[in-house]
Amino acid sequence: MELADLLLKDSMRFILFGGKGGVGKTTCAASSAVWAADHGRETLIISTDPAHSLSDSFNLDLSGGEVVKVPGFENLYGLEINPKLEFQKYQQTMQEQQPEIPPELSGFMDSFEDFSSLTPPGSDESLAFSKVLEFIQTSDYKFIIFDTAPSGHTLRLLSLPEVLNSFFGKLIMMRMKIGQIWGKLKSFFSRSKEDEGPDKLEILNTMKKNIEQASIELSDSEKTEFVIVMIPEMMAILETERLLRALYEYEIPVHNIIINQIIPPNSECEFCNSRRKMQLKNLEEIKKLYDEFNIIEMLLRPTEIRGIDLLREFGKDLLK
Ligand SMILES: Nc1ncnc2c1ncn2[C@@H]1O[C@H](COP(=O)(O)OP(=O)(O)OP(=O)(O)O)[C@@H](O)[C@H]1O
Ligand SMILES: [Mg+2]
Repeated sequence: MELADLLLKDSMRFILFGGKGGVGKTTCAASSAVWAADHGRETLIISTDPAHSLSDSFNLDLSGGEVVKVPGFENLYGLEINPKLEFQKYQQTMQEQQPEIPPELSGFMDSFEDFSSLTPPGSDESLAFSKVLEFIQTSDYKFIIFDTAPSGHTLRLLSLPEVLNSFFGKLIMMRMKIGQIWGKLKSFFSRSKEDEGPDKLEILNTMKKNIEQASIELSDSEKTEFVIVMIPEMMAILETERLLRALYEYEIPVHNIIINQIIPPNSECEFCNSRRKMQLKNLEEIKKLYDEFNIIEMLLRPTEIRGIDLLREFGKDLLK
């Protein structure tokens, strides 16, 4: 299915843009979001790249950790996930989970690992992603475009639901065990009447469920698509191969590949023409290699693509 159709397909929930560093992922994701909103679809664009550039692309500060409505639209929203901020929030929650320890027991309780220090593998990055997974399960946004980080990072992200699921599973088990021991000790010393058991366990349980559900949706071809962005260069072809293999493994469907930054013809510039010649040769290779994909060709433009007007213009070309 072509990108324009995907953007308007009712059942489609998540479209992820990914590829090598600097190829134009943010530009393509942002201009697709503008296009979808212009075509009447309520759209949220989320950046999961720790080195955010979505704000730059929109010329708008999206870094506050909350969803921002894009000015000039009734139906376009943006959000940059801030891994550091999310990590702090998680640690805070976990600290609050720590039961108040009577002094006569503090030595004993020290032998338990500090609950707040139990951080998921890959810590802040995976925390941020688990936040994204939770958010997409609990928010009212029906359609979300993801601007992802360069390939390596994105691939780690895609393997995270599994990792996180097992991490939270273990954490829950541990919390239950500590809870049981704690309950016994408490009744023995009968100090605190406040019950800190099941409610807090529930937070973890909910988190785990949301992550589970989100990872099911992410591999549902009715709901999720990955769009690869690349440039017509040999290195990019190799990287795309790796990305495609991984996406296949995670069962995330791909039908569209955007070849960006193609140098336009220019009879005046020998340098440009020489590069263009090299690119066109690679483009032929790419088309042969990926003949079962929709290949979208985008020319390199004379200026950066920043702000709604330029994104809109780029989007019209991208989705024509
Ligand atoms: N077709 C194009 N013509 C002109 N400029 C472009 C084009 N595509 C992208 N750019 C510009 O190139 C720069 C990099 O693009 P962008 O930020 O979209 O890439 P990215 O793949 O998201 O990068 P990163 O890997 O750093 O996240 C930006 O300044 C953008 O405006
Ligand atoms: Mg980017």
